[in-house]
Amino acid sequence: MNKALNILFTASEVVPFAKTGGLADVAGALPKALASLGHNVIVVMPRYYSIDKDKLEHIVGPLGVPMGAMGELWAGVYKDTLPNSDVPIYFIDYEQFYGRSGLYADEQGFSYSDNDNRFVFLSKAAFQLCKKIGFKPDIIHAHDWHTAAQPVLKNSRYAFDDFFKESASVLTIHNLQHQGIFFKGVMDVMEAGWEHFNPHELESMDGVNILKGGIAHADAVTTVSRKYAHEIQTPEFGFGLEGHIGAHSYKLYGILNGVDYDEWSPAIDPFIARRYDLDDMSGKAVCKADMQDRFNLPVWDDVPLIGFVGRFAEQKGIGLIAGAIEGLLHLNVQIVMLGTGEKWAEGFFSDIAGKYPDRFACYIGYSNELAHVIEAGSDLFLMPSLFEPCGLNQIYSLRYGTLPIVRATGGLDDTIQNYDPATKTGNGFKFEWATNDALYHTVKWAADTYRYEKDAFAIMQRTAMQARFDWESAAEKYEDLYYHTLYSRRVKNYK
Ligand code: ADP
Ligand code: GLC
Repeated sequence: MNKALNILFTASEVVPFAKTGGLADVAGALPKALASLGHNVIVVMPRYYSIDKDKLEHIVGPLGVPMGAMGELWAGVYKDTLPNSDVPIYFIDYEQFYGRSGLYADEQGFSYSDNDNRFVFLSKAAFQLCKKIGFKPDIIHAHDWHTAAQPVLKNSRYAFDDFFKESASVLTIHNLQHQGIFFKGVMDVMEAGWEHFNPHELESMDGVNILKGGIAHADAVTTVSRKYAHEIQTPEFGFGLEGHIGAHSYKLYGILNGVDYDEWSPAIDPFIARRYDLDDMSGKAVCKADMQDRFNLPVWDDVPLIGFVGRFAEQKGIGLIAGAIEGLLHLNVQIVMLGTGEKWAEGFFSDIAGKYPDRFACYIGYSNELAHVIEAGSDLFLMPSLFEPCGLNQIYSLRYGTLPIVRATGGLDDTIQNYDPATKTGNGFKFEWATNDALYHTVKWAADTYRYEKDAFAIMQRTAMQARFDWESAAEKYEDLYYHTLYSRRVKNYK
């Protein structure tokens, strides 16, 4: 048996404390799965304004965080555990950085102008916290640009700090679109040293690109599906970093996310109208009627009901849906969308709901309850993403027997097998090209299959519901990677 590892896990959002997307789901679940394998994990995140500190344990004594040109800043630290576990989560409390309504942006959607300082602070605070509580990390696991400064800091500001001498760093890219590009003045706050300001490390067109630096310095880089690990080395998906990532592909791995089946299972879901499972699917029809009712749609049991849940962002293919929507609604289907984000999309889809009240409904906002209602009540789930590093909703859909219609990209391609009418196999419907036509024809195909090939549809539902993407197996892959990375890092230390 390998030795238990100390793992520092720093993320900008963690379920159930703060969430804008799937990163929070991963940061809330993976540490628990790693702890179940016997490792000691601590999680660190900001104490955002929305997190009630009265419910947290206060750690006595302020935490000093060196911020270079800004001097040493003093943070408060609070503590809790991840739900249903002993995994400690620490909250870094610093009013000037985190005492705001949004996580990354204000209510109008404008990113905070000091996001560089806010997240360099988080990255460093996690290091300082480790020293304060005497937690020597074997693995420093950073996530996305927000904490990608950690691998850089490990090799620079903290390079000669004995406390981290034996640590190895892992950086997970959940979304390459957001890289943390800032004015180069942040170099003086990060204290990595200007020698790291060059096009192979932190520099990007005279600015600082934090994710780029993290990729250069991490001992291992992961993404959240194998397909996405390949895609980000191409111009279509690389957002300008394809060459840089290609140069570091020797240490790049794709590990698919898991999902939390304690939350996402129709047999135990507290939010849905009638629970169901493989042995008794009758509850699904009740859930469909309930969903139609909640969204003020006519309750038609034989019309395919298609759901969408997700951020209204270009990434999610909302442009494709908008371009195809009127054609789709003439296919005699009903479509329900839940989401929030780009203002044009919120307005556009609200207008469509006004124009087609018996075919289309949307809820502009965030609602975990409605997300469950849609997963259970829909016959088909729409996810035509332009890119999708992993994607969680299509995996939830499988569990609910709600067949996904997806574009063949990233984790969508890795988790969905296209329906093959000849063998009646598959668990969803896929298309390649990001065009309105391809989307339209694939939805038509799925709707026709629902209507005219009921047996094949039912077989696919069974296949979908039987599949498992659990965190335990994902955690085992991370564990293998941690050991591998740690030993190769230590071997390097002896050179
Ligand atoms: P991403 O992280 O790119 O947004 P994922 O599919 O990985 O995409 O994760 C999205 C997560 O956020 C899922 O858990 C999904 O249910 C949830 N979600 C997104 N938008 C909403 C919303 N408007 N209401 C409720 N849940 C939402
Ligand atoms: C990102 C990606 C999404 C992925 C999630 C969790 O937000 O957009 O595809 O599932 O991170 O890894």
